[in-house]
Amino acid sequence: MFGHANDDQQVTAATGMASFWRYCEALANDRRANPVDDFTSDIVNRPDETGRPLTQQEAATILFGLLLAGHETTTNLLSNGLRRLLENRASWDTLCADQTMIPNAVEEILRYDSSVIHWRRRTTTPVTLNGIDIPADANLLLCIGAANRDPEVFDQPDHFDIGRPNARDHLSFGGGAHLCLGAPLARLETRIVLEELTTAVPELRLIPDQTYDFPPIIAFRGPRSLLVNP
Ligand code: HEM
Repeated sequence: MFGHANDDQQVTAATGMASFWRYCEALANDRRANPVDDFTSDIVNRPDETGRPLTQQEAATILFGLLLAGHETTTNLLSNGLRRLLENRASWDTLCADQTMIPNAVEEILRYDSSVIHWRRRTTTPVTLNGIDIPADANLLLCIGAANRDPEVFDQPDHFDIGRPNARDHLSFGGGAHLCLGAPLARLETRIVLEELTTAVPELRLIPDQTYDFPPIIAFRGPRSLLVNP
C-alpha cells in the first residue's frame, strides 16, 4: 500500500515516523503548557465527552493522525489540479475569467486525478458485492481512482471537464462512517489556492516537455515535482 521499501528504506521510514511522533508529543506538551489560539491548543486542553481531559498520548495520537492525513493528500491534490488545469489551458483560462467555476473545478480535479487513489477496508461480516461472495475479515483494496472513472456514473469519464454537472459524485473522500474528516478543509484550501493563483498569475504555464515522476505508492498519487513558469 505504501510502497515496496527495502530493509534500509524501512529503517529510514521508521526513524522518520518515530521523530514525527516525538514532534507531535512535544507539540501537545507545549500547547498544554502554553495554549495559544489554535486547533492544537483546543484539542489538548479539551475534555472528552465524559468530562475527562485527553491524556498526552491521546492528544499526540490525534495530532499525529491529522497532521499526516492532512499533509500529503492536499499538497498532492494541488499539484495534480494545477497540472490538469494548465494542461487543459481552456479550463485554466475559464477559471481566470470566472472564479465562481472554481468549486466545481475542485470536484472535477478530485474525480479525475485524486491524491488518494486506493484505500483499505476489512469486512466485519460475510458480504456479497456485485455477485462476488466475500468472507468476514477479508482485506479489501478499494480502487477509488477506477470508481471515479466509472462510465456508468460519469459521461466520458476520461475527459477532464470543470463544468461536469455530477463531478461531486466522486469517491475521493471515501464514504460511510469513515468519510474523510478533512474533506471540507481540503476543498477550502484548494479553492483558496486556485483563487489566489488565477488572480496573481493568470499567465502561469507548465514548463513544456517535463516528465512526471511519481513515488512508488499505490495509496497516494502526486508528482514529486511540477515545474511552472509564472
Ligand atoms: C485532497 C485531500 C484529501 C483526500 C483525497 C483524502 C482522502 C481520504 C480518504 C480516501 C479517506 C478514507 C475514507 C474512508 O475510509 O471511507 C480519508 C480519511 C481521513 N482523512 Fe482525508 N483526505 C484528504 C484530506 C484530508 C485532510 C486535509 C485531513 C485533515 C486535516 C484529513 C483527515 C482524514 C482523517 C482523520 C481520516 C480518517 C477518518 C476516519 O477514519 O473516520 N484528510 N481521507
